[in-house]
Amino acid sequence: MPQMFYLFHFFLLLIAVSFSAQLQAQVRDQHSFSNPEQISSSHLLLDVTVDFDKSELRGFVEHQLQRQQKNANTLVLDSRALVIEKVLQQKADGQWASARFQLGQAAGILGQSLSIQLSPGSQKVRVYYHTTADSSGLQWLSPAQTSEKQQPFLFSQSQAIHARSWIPLQDTPAVRVSYQARVRTPKQLLAVMSADNSKNTERDGDYHFDMPQPVPSYLLALAVGDLHFQSMSAQTGVYAEKTWLQKSVNEFADTQSMMDVASKLYGQYPWGRYDLLILPASFPFGGMENPRLSFITPTVITGDKSLVSLIAHELAHSWSGNLITNSNWEDLWLNEGFTNFFENRLMAEVYGKGRADMEYSLSVAELTRAMPELTKADQALKLKLTGRDPDEAFSPVAYVKGQLFLSFLEQRFGRERFDQFVSLYFKTFAFQSMDTDRFLQFLHTNLLDKYPQVVSKAEVEQWVFQGGLPDTYPKRPSDAFSEVEKQLALFVAGTPQWQTSQWTVHQWLHLLDKLPRQLSGTQLINLDQQFSFSQSQNVELFVAWSRLAIPLNYEALKQPLQQFLLKVGRSKFVVPLYRALAQNPHWRDFAKQVYQQARPGYHPLTQAQVDKIVQ
Ligand code: BES
Ligand code: ZN
Repeated sequence: MPQMFYLFHFFLLLIAVSFSAQLQAQVRDQHSFSNPEQISSSHLLLDVTVDFDKSELRGFVEHQLQRQQKNANTLVLDSRALVIEKVLQQKADGQWASARFQLGQAAGILGQSLSIQLSPGSQKVRVYYHTTADSSGLQWLSPAQTSEKQQPFLFSQSQAIHARSWIPLQDTPAVRVSYQARVRTPKQLLAVMSADNSKNTERDGDYHFDMPQPVPSYLLALAVGDLHFQSMSAQTGVYAEKTWLQKSVNEFADTQSMMDVASKLYGQYPWGRYDLLILPASFPFGGMENPRLSFITPTVITGDKSLVSLIAHELAHSWSGNLITNSNWEDLWLNEGFTNFFENRLMAEVYGKGRADMEYSLSVAELTRAMPELTKADQALKLKLTGRDPDEAFSPVAYVKGQLFLSFLEQRFGRERFDQFVSLYFKTFAFQSMDTDRFLQFLHTNLLDKYPQVVSKAEVEQWVFQGGLPDTYPKRPSDAFSEVEKQLALFVAGTPQWQTSQWTVHQWLHLLDKLPRQLSGTQLINLDQQFSFSQSQNVELFVAWSRLAIPLNYEALKQPLQQFLLKVGRSKFVVPLYRALAQNPHWRDFAKQVYQQARPGYHPLTQAQVDKIVQ
């Protein structure tokens, strides 16, 4: 055992050394004030109290420092909406003393730099701080906003640059830290983090965490609530409020199979356990790939496993994203495109090619719908984010165009060669950051130059740096979708003969995608009477139907829509719905009135997005 221990630590040391070398070569991240190329933080110790009365996190973070430049003596951290109380440093002789610090000018979404003056040889600093109401990385929920309605709830969402609003740190994906944490909460609540949670066998309000593998700051995550755990398999389990526990275990029972398939495809799962945390419905995303503990919206718990590709997606990030990390938000496609590609491979292996083909087609449709609304520059995989909030450039391009680029390469080089390439990629760059240029270099060396005349440099450049969707993306026709289109054609011809008893959720989604946008009131009523779209318990279906029916003033939708918007805060749904409402002059007042009621329950990120739509 001790040998194993030393071996493991030696392994981590190797990572740290190769990482330091890499830091020197990095281009600066324009979304961070930090100076890791001079002094980098390599390990964090977080010690905080969760105060639900004040909606405030309070305590300190201690940074273990590595001098990348010998004489550098200013450490620069990122912070936003934090009150910095004092800063201590541990000097070369081991004594703690106060350190001078200065907060820079507030710069919108980037926040403020926190510059700390170090004595030569200081190895550690401690920043004492507390969060504020503007700490956008945290959502504080009252008991009424939870499922059980008895206890409050807190969760963090750090990606892309919100970690700095709850921990002062070097908030760039080019820096990785291992971490330990101690979190104090009210006794009856449980705290969980993106780390080893196994020390917390007792529910006593004093929780300890350990994350031995280094992770980028956007993967630091914390949640506190009336959480309970249920195991699903040797490596997997669910944390959730009681209402969701058994339902989640049933819905996500295939998680271990997904892990096994993933490990076989692209190399051993590198993080030990993989658990899921089910959040309240205001969680602004579908899922967030926090390492060892993905954060998951309850809206994918449908009872029929129809939306579990979300789990495949977050799990796939354990390799693409968490193991190899985009070094800059302009390279987000390296995280999300690879993950979508990987996700679809997992879905094919676990649920069959037919289902994966349908999900692929639905993704292509989503991209095709989004493209015309984006500028040419935002249609390229490699983004330009100078002066912009990384959350704003968020679109299906990184996800789906990225996925299609990789599918294109797979088709040209053949699955076997491409799988070997991807495995080698994960092995070669594990625990490192990656940018587009470095990836392209690796692609050239290991595929393009090795098998000449299969894919040209110009084709690659077009995919990565230009707008539009190259028509060379692989088409994957689906029999199940052809069946939908056949029946749809009859409906459009005025001779509907619906035979839908065998249809899957994906077929219904395809139907809603393809239905003409101009339907008469009678047609809407008939469709709804036959298929109960307005009552659908499947959120994807309900939202697809609503997006069709809102512009057509379908009155019967109003009541279920209001209920939905009051309950769910997932921005992928909420934002397009408010947009559709605001674009319809007859429904604008309705939108205002619903939003006024719903806003306090939304996450700050969702609020900021909807504020721009509904005035
Ligand atoms: N990492 C993302 C969420 C994210 C991306 C947060 C960028 C902040 C900035 C996560 O893995 C994700 O992609 N979630 C998707 C689901 C997925 C199946 C497409 C979501 O939340 O809808
Ligand atoms: Zn993702």
